[in-house]
Amino acid sequence: MNNITTFNFSLGREERSKLSNHTSFVVWFTGLSGSGKSTLANMVEKLLYEQKVRTFVLDGDSLRNGLNKELDFSPEEREENLRVAAEVAKILVSSGSVVLASFISPKQANRDLVKEIIGEQDFIETFVNTSLETCEKRDVKGLYKKARAGEIKNFTGIDSPYEKPKNPEIEINTEKENLQEAANRIVNLLQKKLELK
Ligand code: PPS
Repeated sequence: MNNITTFNFSLGREERSKLSNHTSFVVWFTGLSGSGKSTLANMVEKLLYEQKVRTFVLDGDSLRNGLNKELDFSPEEREENLRVAAEVAKILVSSGSVVLASFISPKQANRDLVKEIIGEQDFIETFVNTSLETCEKRDVKGLYKKARAGEIKNFTGIDSPYEKPKNPEIEINTEKENLQEAANRIVNLLQKKLELK
């Protein structure tokens, strides 16, 4: 008993969904650092905006600069980071938004937890499949170089594992597919689920 009772609010997700004229759910982008998760989420958001869909991007870097400031990259604190991210995503879904969440979420257990919090019906696992070799070659933020030099510990793909999703709903191979084409493909796949009015 924690003495917490949930108030039964009159308006819920369904009413908000009627206002926005579409359903709400989470597109969860997982992949290595530098794989293109945020770039894709950004492109998908712009395409949905053109269709007047209410969206919100949740991103690892931005959450870790604020809400999850105190969390590091140990397995335990990554899990806490992702638990909080999933709870926020769930709130945004109930507000009527399509959430584009971009987090490394390196382990199957992390993604299972996130899926459980958000609810299977509202969770679209999207694997941004870019090899470690390519991510390291691009090294957009210079983090791989630092990780190889031992200046960053627990870096995903270097000294911290990344388990590829076994059965993602959407998979993007950024080495074979142009990012804009991939974003278009994702938006096409979302059309039916959006039930746009
Ligand atoms: S996780 O594993 O899901 O909790 O990570 P996430 O919240 O998505 O944060 C990933 C971003 O943090 C930066 N960064 C690191 N990534 C991986 N490992 C280590 N040790 C690390 N330290 C800092 C990095 O910029 C990641 O951003 P992306 O967009 O993935 O490149």
